[in-house]
Amino acid sequence: MKHLIKSLFISLPILLSSCGGDDSAKKEIKDPIKKSEKKVEAVAETSGPNYGIGPIAKGDVTIGDAIDTAMAEQGKEVYDKMCTACHKPEKKFIGPAPKGVLSRRTPEWVMNMILNPEQMVKEDATARALLIEFNGAPMANQNLTKEQARQVLEYFRTL
Ligand code: HEC
Repeated sequence: MKHLIKSLFISLPILLSSCGGDDSAKKEIKDPIKKSEKKVEAVAETSGPNYGIGPIAKGDVTIGDAIDTAMAEQGKEVYDKMCTACHKPEKKFIGPAPKGVLSRRTPEWVMNMILNPEQMVKEDATARALLIEFNGAPMANQNLTKEQARQVLEYFRTL
């Protein structure tokens, strides 16, 4: 018995220190991934317009010179019902503020993010970087129709 206790005392510090070693090894593995994600976004920003991945192809969305207020109102209704759990119009919340989103993204990208977020956060570099920025909280697919997504886009133009 005495012998057992003695050997525990000897082995405990060794066990503890080897645990510490494991943790720092994990950190070293995590950090390079974060760095490479940042690089991916930088590439996405410099390689021309990004239309995203999903049902909306380049050129599928026409944006009028003037805001279509009737469409924007319908979009606000959809947004208030389906999006405000995570988005505030002008402030970062669970997700980013949609105000000014069209100065950052193409209309096609925004609609693909609304209609096809699961694939976007996996395969689109910009959406992937956003997912990391928002601590892994994923953008939810609210099953909007294309028409509703287009209405919400028009509402975003009013913010
Ligand atoms: C469950 C929370 C949640 C809901 C509900 C939600 N979103 Fe999101 N949204 C997010 C998060 C979080 C992000 C950031 C990307 C990520 O983490 O996947 C995001 C990103 C976005 C983006 C990209 C913004 C940018 O700056 O590029 C758009 C556009 C968007 N959401 C629109 C909508 C619309 C429209 C609705 C409603 C139909 C909606 N979201 C509902 C959480 C949500």
